[in-house]
Amino acid sequence: MEIVILDGVDAVDRTAADIVERTVRTTQKSTPVLGLATGSTPVGTYRELARRHRDEGLSFSHCRAFLLDEYIGLARSAEQSYFSFIRENFVDHVDLDDAAVFSPDGEAHDIAAEAQRYDAAIAEAGGIDVQILGIGTDGHIGFNEPGSSLRSRTRVKTLTEQTRTDNARFFDSPDAVPHHVLTQGLATIDEARHLVLIATGESKAEAVAAAVEGPLSAHCPASVIQWHPHVSVLLDDAAASSLALAEYYRYAYANKPRWQHL
Ligand code: PGA
Repeated sequence: MEIVILDGVDAVDRTAADIVERTVRTTQKSTPVLGLATGSTPVGTYRELARRHRDEGLSFSHCRAFLLDEYIGLARSAEQSYFSFIRENFVDHVDLDDAAVFSPDGEAHDIAAEAQRYDAAIAEAGGIDVQILGIGTDGHIGFNEPGSSLRSRTRVKTLTEQTRTDNARFFDSPDAVPHHVLTQGLATIDEARHLVLIATGESKAEAVAAAVEGPLSAHCPASVIQWHPHVSVLLDDAAASSLALAEYYRYAYANKPRWQHL
């Protein structure tokens, strides 16, 4: 696990974009598979990737992508659905084929079967090469709320009131935030080859500290990343402000061997 404390949100966005770009350009697979997070945090990364597409010829035409989660009972056409969100904030601005962007169907008649189908679709695509992750103020990744099994697969979860409050800004009223979601499980996420967790701002500082310096525990689902062999945690100073070993992480990154990528 590599914890990288960067100077400002733009540097976080550029560094995350560098990792995605390297995966897209250099993976040996003919069809690289991207794991895309939604929410506010990765929007700057997607904007930077779209800029590189426009200005530098970075192409996603050979890629596939899988989203982490979706609200249950919200139409895909609703602007708050993650199906719509990822198109508005990324897919519509690059040459990624719309039909190659997959997300759990929160309107499926049989939600349990849809969850199994989604995990199988990721496996059939050869697994996710690089997974972008945000983190909730309660320590969730995807929508794996506290208490999520560390070996969970894609399934239904009930949002905490804190998450519903955090996400109310996307909806007309707090009551309109759905209670239930379909989310990749922690074991599903853990199978991606490279996890890139991004957090910015003071409101994420406690959750970040619990995730990377606290115990590996279902109480902080994001702590499951400690178990993974290839993790990059990209933070601005505010999100890193509760880390006990912040100085060491800064020192290690400043002295990182030039040949060693994130
Ligand atoms: P945010 O959400 O990026 O909108 O803060 C992160 C998350 O809930 O995973």
